Amino acid sequence: MDSPSYAEHNTKQYETSHALISNLKSFQMKIKMRLQILLYFSLVLLTKAQAQESIKEKNVDAKINALISKMTLEEKVNMIHASSSFTSGGVPRLGIPELVTSDGPHGVRLEHGRDFEPDKNVRDSSTYLPTGICLASTWNPLLGVEFGKVLGSEASFRGKDVILGPGINIIRTPLNGRNFEYESEDPYLVSKMAVGYTKGVQSQGVSACVKHYLANNQETNRETVNVHMSERALREIYLPGFKAVVQEGGVNTLMASYNKFRGQWASENDYLLNKILKKEFGFKGLVMSDWNAVHNTMEALWNGLDLEMGTDISMLPNPDYRKFYMADTVVKLVRQGKVPEYLIDEKVRRILYVMFKTSMIDGKRAKGEYNTKAHQQTALKVAEEGIVLLKNEQNILPLSSSVKSIAVIGNNADRKQAIGGGSSQVKAFYEITPLQGLKNSAGNKINITYSQGYKTERGGTTDASLIQQAADAASKADVAIVVGGWTHNYIFDKWGDDAYDAEGVDKPNMQMPFGQDELIKAVLKANPKTIVVLMGGGPVDMSQWINNAKGIIQAWYPGMEGGNALAKIIFGQVNPSGKLTMSFPKKLEDSPAHKLGAYPGDDKKNVYYLDDIYVGYRYYDTYKVEPQFPFGFGLSYTTFSYSNLKVSAANRKATVTYTIKNTGKVAGADISQVYVHQQKSALPRPEKELKGFQKVFLQPGESKTITITLDENAFQYFNDNLNKWVLEPGKFDLLVGNSSKDIKLSGTVSLEN
Ligand code: BGC
Repeated sequence: MDSPSYAEHNTKQYETSHALISNLKSFQMKIKMRLQILLYFSLVLLTKAQAQESIKEKNVDAKINALISKMTLEEKVNMIHASSSFTSGGVPRLGIPELVTSDGPHGVRLEHGRDFEPDKNVRDSSTYLPTGICLASTWNPLLGVEFGKVLGSEASFRGKDVILGPGINIIRTPLNGRNFEYESEDPYLVSKMAVGYTKGVQSQGVSACVKHYLANNQETNRETVNVHMSERALREIYLPGFKAVVQEGGVNTLMASYNKFRGQWASENDYLLNKILKKEFGFKGLVMSDWNAVHNTMEALWNGLDLEMGTDISMLPNPDYRKFYMADTVVKLVRQGKVPEYLIDEKVRRILYVMFKTSMIDGKRAKGEYNTKAHQQTALKVAEEGIVLLKNEQNILPLSSSVKSIAVIGNNADRKQAIGGGSSQVKAFYEITPLQGLKNSAGNKINITYSQGYKTERGGTTDASLIQQAADAASKADVAIVVGGWTHNYIFDKWGDDAYDAEGVDKPNMQMPFGQDELIKAVLKANPKTIVVLMGGGPVDMSQWINNAKGIIQAWYPGMEGGNALAKIIFGQVNPSGKLTMSFPKKLEDSPAHKLGAYPGDDKKNVYYLDDIYVGYRYYDTYKVEPQFPFGFGLSYTTFSYSNLKVSAANRKATVTYTIKNTGKVAGADISQVYVHQQKSALPRPEKELKGFQKVFLQPGESKTITITLDENAFQYFNDNLNKWVLEPGKFDLLVGNSSKDIKLSGTVSLEN
């Protein structure tokens, strides 16, 4: 048959496309109708759900009112202070149980009984998850949810109502002894990770307790220090995480910190608790004090505290909780007419609200599970995604199959960490150390030796004979792996023993403790094929050996499966994808709070946050100070290319679209970050601020298009002259990178007012 003429061909094509178009149109119509119907029903369902929710709330309100109306003043007051080391009072006559709290942020703490003494012969070892900073380094909010679910489920199983986490204080100085529990120097990242965590915990029926509100950014003098910061720093840096956990995460309880804020104790702080938290953020739950953080009955009563927790350890074994600030004195003050009873009712109301929310009264909570394989798998996954590869010259990692012998060196390789660090301690069901993990992965194919390298004792220095043994072992092996860094420990009567990551104490400086610099230098000399693995809650000064070390891994405190996760990364079964959530300075003096002498405060215990909003990369990038490793940095065994940036803006919102391709040979995940830079502003702004990120997993050769929408919050800053958030119209650069310093693509949008 002849081929159709050009005209015929065109007509046919027209008819076909016409038919296609009308088919498409009717299809679109149908879809549209269906969507409308769907929308209608979802609206109906939504309004129904909202209505049901508000009826439920009203019912709860009514039940709370009924309970309060039946309570004596003594019973009410009994509910607003601790009744034992981790409980607060109930009213058995009315079926109101004690509220049972437990640390902590990365695993349910061992049992302390009513007297604070660790219980013996009880089943209280639990899943030890990687600590907060490792979780945040995954940049994977969904893992945050999974992490929270494990905690919530185990807390429920152990009969706890409130889990005392997440800890979300901003990492302001590398020295803070509790940085390992916290998440980041960046408020946006903190918000995303902590909201997931909170939702995960609370999905199991128990309450999370976000802490420590606010400005507990150092452990030195934590119980006395008086923090001063600008309103702008408060709004832009220190509050957003708490706001997000309250408003998006729906957290039920919050812990006020030990320190003072602008002259008033944080747990008796009208501005922070009444005005901002309860009024502005609309927090409906209860505010508890940190343990023994209350100083004055009247201040606590009026300024927003609902529950006084703690135990006066000096009174053990028989502490008298009725002597607490919010105990018998309150009864007296109400009876004398000095305090109105409604103030106490309001606190009881909030406590009961949490009890209803957590099904303690009038409900049934899922029983929870304990030490399951699934929980351990979550611990493993978080560690695999949270460990950060910092340096990998000449592809020293992953180890090639030709490696037949490894000298593992360093105390941290063989040290269990779970029980350390202070109140976040966990009695781990088990803990795979780095050495054990390497042995598990290597099987009998590789000969692994171990030498201790250094001894831990705070202030301890070089041990020449241990260094010699380590160097000898390294020289005989194909590869050496030094596992060192910080460490923590915890002895109740001696908090600062060999602890460098621990509650109540900051690190003295960024120098590696226990003579490790000497050790690493000696091992590197003995075997240039040396990998340095650093554990701990933050950076060390690497200047003495960084140029010679080809491979460096930041392993944090990676939880009970940490050793396995680390080994999988070292042997290449897992491609590392974690990224730093704090800048690693080259030396302590480069870090803004230290450079400005704004740590740890003057002799009157005042600390002025002169670094203001310039915390972390906001400082390094604006003031052009080269960090050792920037915020958002982390290597992979594959490579990624970024292309096709499209940016657009309308109605005070912007959209950023770009494509990421895995251009290497192995599958891997990339975390791309979107930063905003305002070209001109009335007040100075940081060079860039993180406002979006996404983690994508890509097979070799695979690419994905990513779309990130930025709402108006992403462009605003807090103008403290006007005392409000402002969006100044003008040009904004949208920067897409895989660290704060490695910007791959940039575009500009104009935003109108
Ligand atoms: C810590 C809190 C902890 C509480 C209870 C305090 O010393 O600062 O984080 O939850 O003790 O153990």
